[in-house]
Amino acid sequence: MARLRSVYRCAECGHEHPKWVGRCEACGEWNSVAEEPVAAKPARGRKAGRPEGRNLGASAARPLAEVEQSRLVRWNTGIPEFDFVIGGGIVPGSMALIGGEPGIGKSTLLLQTAARLRAAGRHVLYASGEESPEQIRLRADRLIEDAGPVLVLGETRLDAILDAAQSAHAELLVLDSIQTVYLEELESAPGSVGQVRECAARLMRFAKETGTAVFVVGHVTKGGSIAGPKTLEHIADTVLYFEGESSLDYRLLRATKNRFGSVDELGVFTMTEHGLSAVANPSAVFLAARSEGTSGSAVTALMEGTRPVLVEVQALAAPSGYGTPQRVATGLDPKRLAVLLAVLERRGGASFAQLDVFVQVTAGVRLREPGADLAVAAALLSSLNGRPTPSDALYLGEIGLGGEIRPIGGLERRLAEAGRLGFKRSFGSPRQAAQVPGLRHVPLNHVDELVRALAA
Ligand code: TYD
Ligand code: MG
Repeated sequence: MARLRSVYRCAECGHEHPKWVGRCEACGEWNSVAEEPVAAKPARGRKAGRPEGRNLGASAARPLAEVEQSRLVRWNTGIPEFDFVIGGGIVPGSMALIGGEPGIGKSTLLLQTAARLRAAGRHVLYASGEESPEQIRLRADRLIEDAGPVLVLGETRLDAILDAAQSAHAELLVLDSIQTVYLEELESAPGSVGQVRECAARLMRFAKETGTAVFVVGHVTKGGSIAGPKTLEHIADTVLYFEGESSLDYRLLRATKNRFGSVDELGVFTMTEHGLSAVANPSAVFLAARSEGTSGSAVTALMEGTRPVLVEVQALAAPSGYGTPQRVATGLDPKRLAVLLAVLERRGGASFAQLDVFVQVTAGVRLREPGADLAVAAALLSSLNGRPTPSDALYLGEIGLGGEIRPIGGLERRLAEAGRLGFKRSFGSPRQAAQVPGLRHVPLNHVDELVRALAA
């Protein structure tokens, strides 16, 4: 095939360069220039303008009420946590991107999904540019699912993969990973910005035209976003992140974008020697390792998407050797920890000066809402005074700079989950009086009340 001409366009200002340059000649931005094929995008030239007086084809606008209601078809994968996170099942003709650090389990999860869908009678192609079919076979042998009937292909040329998917009538195409495949008409190397973007666009078109569901693995950069240009996340219908502490056996799957469902839903898996297995009751698992009677521990209920999840916050305050004391936060924003320490000191009179402070959240969960403030404060004070928090107590509330404790939302669901797991008391703002049977509300107006309650 004759090589198509390429241009190198700046992603910031759109300026075209005849060859690759490290810095855009027009806007001066570094590393923003990426290759793209000229022929593939004839409609690109915005400058060309619209030919006047021409009928632009039959795209007639019509009232929304006249648009047929389409019923979204979904295929269940048979892995309930996976279905839940993606909004109820795989949508044919959609493209999902799954990101995560190397070794976190992306390939395993997708091979398990492929095997389940194959067992349900769907045609599936698992294409890998990372592993040979022999390596995939080795992995498959360990899984509980029978991945035997899944079609596999070791290939890095995207066109060859799409041809194979078409001739196999694949209803699901798994591509592992976007950084290893390439289009022959582009000169740049696999994994470069231009290749990744064009490959993603080609895959998306393929999904829409053929109705194939496409799952694409993407590696994440140091910054934590899926490598390559942000446009990759803009193109995909669904963006999933698979994360977890590599030392722990839990893996958390979360959708950060979903055109067919809600985002931020959390799916929890455990890693076993037979692959990933879904955790039906995350709260119970997260709290299982809690050692009651130890100081520096407090439990809170987070809303992860629409589901409440109970997690333990652990804190340790220890005399600092010398110099500036350390503040180490794992699973929460270090700045939030600094704010809470300052509030406890100024408003509650609890001093952490000369103490190293370490705070972490169990199972690799992140505290992303201020409603967990009260639990962090309780864990800190408990460690400071060497006095455990009551084992049946739940802490829910945001702490303001004045030391006041504020009510939080989603209360009924959080409390119901706590009640189910045997919690008897919930500490929080007087304005969030709870209505859950068996759970007594203990009102706290201000952090100084918490300081007194947890005093040595
Ligand atoms: P892998 O799926 O290859 O991760 P990724 O594709 O994200 O890089 O998994 C990494 C390794 O962990 C691999 O050697 C298999 C192993 N593993 C298990 O033993 N059990 C599991 O449940 C998972 C997910 C992985
Ligand atoms: Mg992999």
